[in-house]
Amino acid sequence: MSTTSYQGLEVLYTREQIAQRVAEMGAQITQDLKGEKLVMVGVLKGAAFFLADLSRAIDADATFDFVATSSYGVGQRSSGAVKLIKDLDQPIEGKNVLVVEDILDTGLTLTYLRKLFLQQKPKSLRIATLLDKPSRRIEKIDADYVGFSIPNLFVIGYGMDYAERYRNLPDICLMPPNHPE
Ligand code: IMP
Ligand code: MG
Repeated sequence: MSTTSYQGLEVLYTREQIAQRVAEMGAQITQDLKGEKLVMVGVLKGAAFFLADLSRAIDADATFDFVATSSYGVGQRSSGAVKLIKDLDQPIEGKNVLVVEDILDTGLTLTYLRKLFLQQKPKSLRIATLLDKPSRRIEKIDADYVGFSIPNLFVIGYGMDYAERYRNLPDICLMPPNHPE
């Protein structure tokens, strides 16, 4: 494992590894769409970078929407309950929806969103997550497309934060243990 020059953080996935995997995911999603249109729904803010890159790796007629939920407050601890802070702008009834998330962790967020979106009767509903932490799961839910499956590590960068910081790191890095708040 290498170390970034940026703040001396340990890199889990380099920008090149991310780009390679995102390209593969985009090709798979394109294939599965079979020429149909797509609505990509990003979960703010963490998924913004992934959605921007993934969307450009998908060869289809795509539009975007965004939702925001409250999950992690300050630091690494989840509050448990999921709350919708920002709803969809456009109805998704009859649409092919791809929910784009940064990390599938306990599964609480995506279980909540999936239920909410299914009530609107989309034509299809799929989930793409860049990272998956299956060992942390509380709700039984799987993504249709997973970038990387990782053990129980807290990661930052490429959209992912610690107390709103580090989202702009180009690589996915490990949060140093015992980091001061
Ligand atoms: P879940 O509801 O527990 O599945 O968590 C979903 C959200 O928790 C993700 O969208 C992330 O925003 C956040 N999260 C989970 N693990 C990490 C991490 O390692 N780093 C940064 N954010 C995380
Ligand atoms: Mg998130």
